[in-house]
Amino acid sequence: MRKKITVIGAGNVGATLAHRLADKQLGDIVLIDILEGVPQGKGLDLLESGPIEGYDLKVTGTNDYADTANSDLIVMTAGFPRKPGMSRDDLLKANYDVVKDAIGKAAKVSPNAILIVVTNPLDAMAQTAFRVSGFPRHRVMGMAGVLDTARYRTFIAEALNVSVQNVQGFVLGGHGDTMVPVPRYTTVAGIPVTELMPKEQLDEIIERTANGGAEIVKLLKTGSAFYAPSAAVVEMADAIFNDRKKILPCAAYLEGEYGIQGLFVGVPVKLGAKGIEQIIEIKLTPEEKAALDKSAASVKSLVDVIGV
Ligand code: APR
Repeated sequence: MRKKITVIGAGNVGATLAHRLADKQLGDIVLIDILEGVPQGKGLDLLESGPIEGYDLKVTGTNDYADTANSDLIVMTAGFPRKPGMSRDDLLKANYDVVKDAIGKAAKVSPNAILIVVTNPLDAMAQTAFRVSGFPRHRVMGMAGVLDTARYRTFIAEALNVSVQNVQGFVLGGHGDTMVPVPRYTTVAGIPVTELMPKEQLDEIIERTANGGAEIVKLLKTGSAFYAPSAAVVEMADAIFNDRKKILPCAAYLEGEYGIQGLFVGVPVKLGAKGIEQIIEIKLTPEEKAALDKSAASVKSLVDVIGV
């Protein structure tokens, strides 16, 4: 049986994601949106790419959640993107209503699905999806760390003029200005990055990473990033469907790990067929722990506003 993937939101992130999922042949795809005609049109356009691209998946668009029933994976991308000058947190109330409505309907008809949330503010929206769906925590996660890490790796590779494939690392914490890239665990072909570049240069890269989303928003003026975010979701979907046991930074609901209780925060997790199969706890220095706590506190302040 082919996997069934529902992508909620047929906007920039959702449609680009559907495109990437089809190219990788990860499963049949249902695009759903409140706009009438848009998911149907984009779905049909993608379906008609199949003969050329060599995939024979079903790609459909709909406005009816009944068509999403029995999905294996639901990716939540619907909601408002940022405009220049806005922080992700400015989207809180509007996107809370969108996530509550959409996940409520989608989870009901696909009770065994794994949920990946992309809508911002990411950690608070993942927590909303977790509460509304009632799914166990291993089946609800937020996509942020893979994207933030991709940006971090890109900037390091560019600065050192090496292949991005050589750069490994991860970013902890919430998906916002308080995110925590960890230089101590960042390597280039196994060599600690701290051996390869001066601290000041790395600090600049960390700063640019934390503001990576805003940099794109400022350039686009009318929306936010979608190529790298959709690529990040595909890496997570691939790890799940192919049971890769891949360690990736994702927003996960913590129940005491890292000393954090009852909150979605970005941490390294092992992704496999069951979803989050393990939360990897790494030792942090007091400074790193303080930065993570600060980031978690900023997620908590949002979660408290919407009461999830
Ligand atoms: N149900 C379904 N779809 C909805 C709903 C809803 N209740 N409300 C809005 N949408 C749809 C819109 O009609 C639109 O097609 O969500 C889509 C959002 O698309 P874009 O405006 O292009 O936004 P996008 O760039 O895809 O970003 C979506 O992802 O990265 C985050 O911060 C970003 O929160 C934003 C989300």
